[in-house]
This record gives sequence, structure tokens and C-alpha cells, in this order.
Amino acid sequence: MKIGSIDFGSRPVFLAPMEDVTDISFRRMCKHLGADMVYTEFISSDALIRHISKTRLKLEIAGDERPVAIQIYGKDAGAMKEAAQICEEAGPDIIDLNFGCPVKKIAAKGAGAGLLRNIPLMLEIVRMVVDAVKTPVTVKTRLGWDADNQIIVELAEMLQDCGIAALCIHGRTRSQMYTGNADWSLIRKVKENPRIKIPIIGNGDIFSAETCINRFESCGVDAVMIGRGSIGRPWIFREVKHALASGGQLPEEPFSWYLNLLKEQVLQSVEKLDERRGILHSRRHIAATPLFKNIPNFRQTRIDMLRADTVAGLFAIMDKVPSEYFNMPLDYCR
Ligand SMILES: Cc1cc2nc3c(=O)[nH]c(=O)nc-3n(C[C@H](O)[C@H](O)[C@H](O)COP(=O)(O)O)c2cc1C
Repeated sequence: MKIGSIDFGSRPVFLAPMEDVTDISFRRMCKHLGADMVYTEFISSDALIRHISKTRLKLEIAGDERPVAIQIYGKDAGAMKEAAQICEEAGPDIIDLNFGCPVKKIAAKGAGAGLLRNIPLMLEIVRMVVDAVKTPVTVKTRLGWDADNQIIVELAEMLQDCGIAALCIHGRTRSQMYTGNADWSLIRKVKENPRIKIPIIGNGDIFSAETCINRFESCGVDAVMIGRGSIGRPWIFREVKHALASGGQLPEEPFSWYLNLLKEQVLQSVEKLDERRGILHSRRHIAATPLFKNIPNFRQTRIDMLRADTVAGLFAIMDKVPSEYFNMPLDYCR
């Protein structure tokens, strides 16, 4: 499948944009482990055009993470256009527009998923951005605002007519936030619409290679996007890509291989930020990782791990994992 002139081959798998998660180090790691495209955290168009330096740092792209999409959000068409032009100078492969963020401070103000309640403005933003940049523009959104307004099938056509190069759909409404299960039936309906020519990227609740293959097969989507399934488990891309290519399960690595990846992630965050902030930033991954689950009597050690505030301290605790768990198949730890 292709987005603009970028050829992703068949059944590509993307790393979802996630605030506070998909910074440059995590994106590079996921890319290295098989993600076919990675997305930045969402970036405020207002902050970009006001030249806020912390926000501008989020535009940094590494050569080895490409193709990469920079995602922006906002509710003002002029600001979104200007922000997209600023993003373009950073040289992303794709500029993605966020119309799916459900968080109150954003959606209630009319940005992110808030635009699902103002389709004319959403379409105006898309038209202005598409006209303003040469980079392919994509959209990521949800099924609709709430259960009574699941408008994605009609909306997809309207967005396509505005010139977007691909559409990513998270199979939930804004009201659902992250509750319940993602409903892929409407994603399939969008894909089955003969008027839809642009690639459709399906997103929501992919936590295993098996589910990923099932979504490709049962919904016919052109690509699948994985978010939470990669937190504390970036190797999911390796597993999924292997299963897609071979139909089989990837042989597991020794426990230490997975642990070393987590440690590497901590080190990269520390290098990028500083020791304290790097460790804080890594905690979400450490808390979510399946690596330490089900190891008997490990609860206190896990708590200590989440309280550690130096790299040496954290790694010493990680290394307390009873030696017999090293070289154990990961299955044992799930
Ligand atoms: C911590 C976190 C941060 C997120 N930040 C963003 C974001 O910046 N932009 C966006 O479009 N979606 C964001 N999302 C939503 C994800 O991209 C994705 O649509 C959602 O998590 C559903 O996919 P999943 O079930 O694979 O996690 C975020 C989700 C999480 C859990």
C-alpha cells in the first residue's frame, strides 16, 4: 500500500502517536524492531506558531526512524495551516492531523475529537493544510462523538474529497475515551465503501500478532496501528511482522534480551533528558511491561523499581530478578 509516494509494501504496521510516549528514542526503537511507520506525539499548532521552544523540540526527526509522521492538533484553521508549514520545514514524510484526542482540556475546547462536533470546521482545516504543504497530509480520528453520532462512514468520504492521503480510524467514539472494546465493524464499513480510494489504517486494541492478523483479514484495512500494545513491549512489532510474513510465531528470546531493551530505553531517555526526568519518563513503560508479571514474590521489587530515581539504583533492582528467570522463555512471565 502507498501513502503519497511512500510504498509500505503489504500489510504495514504503524506505531501510534502517543503523548509522552512516542518521543524520538521510543520511535527509533520501535522502528528498529519492525514498525513500518512511526508518529510523533501530538504537537499543539498554537504552541508551534508561537515558537515555544519546548514544542519545537518535538519536531526533531532522526534519519533512521523514517518514514515518520508529525502529528499536529488545534482548532483554528489558520494556525493549523501555519503549523503544518512549520512542520514541513522539519522534513517529515507525512503530516497527520489529530481529530481524535478525547481528553477534556482539548476536546471540550473544540480541538482533537472536539472537531467531530464541527465537521465544517474540520473540513476547512483539512483543505487549508492540504493546500499549504507538499507533504502528504493524513487524518487520525474516531468513529464519531458518541454512540448516536457514529459518522465515520460519511466523514471518510468528505475527508477524502478534501485531499487527504490516508485516514486512520480508532474504533471508539469520543465518549468512550478508552473504555469498552474498539469496534472494528465500522472501520470495515469504511473500507468496503467503493467510493473510498485512500488507504484506511485501523487502530484499537491490538495487543498481539494474532489480533493484528485477524484485523487485516476480517476488516481488509490497508495498515494497522498499534498504541498501548507497544508500551513496555516495543518488541510487539517484531512479533507482528514475523507472524505477518510467515504465519508463525517468532521464537522467544531469553528474558535478558527483553530486559536489555527496557534498560536501553531508560538509558536513551536519560541521555535525552537527564537522569531524574529520564527515569520518570521510563516509568510508564516499566509499569506496563509484561516482563515482570507473574514472577513469584516480585511485587515489592516492582514497586521499588517504580520508585527508583537513579539509573544505577533502578538497574540494580531490575537485576534482582531471580537468576532463574533469565534465559526463561518470556511466556513464563506473562
Ligand atoms: C498515553 C497515550 C497517549 C496518546 N496520545 C495520542 C496522541 O498524541 N495523538 C493521537 O492521535 N492519539 C493519541 N493516543 C491514542 C492512540 O494513538 C491510539 O489511538 C489509542 O491508544 C488506541 O490504540 P491502542 O488500542 O492500540 O492503544 C494516545 C494514547 C495513549 C494511551
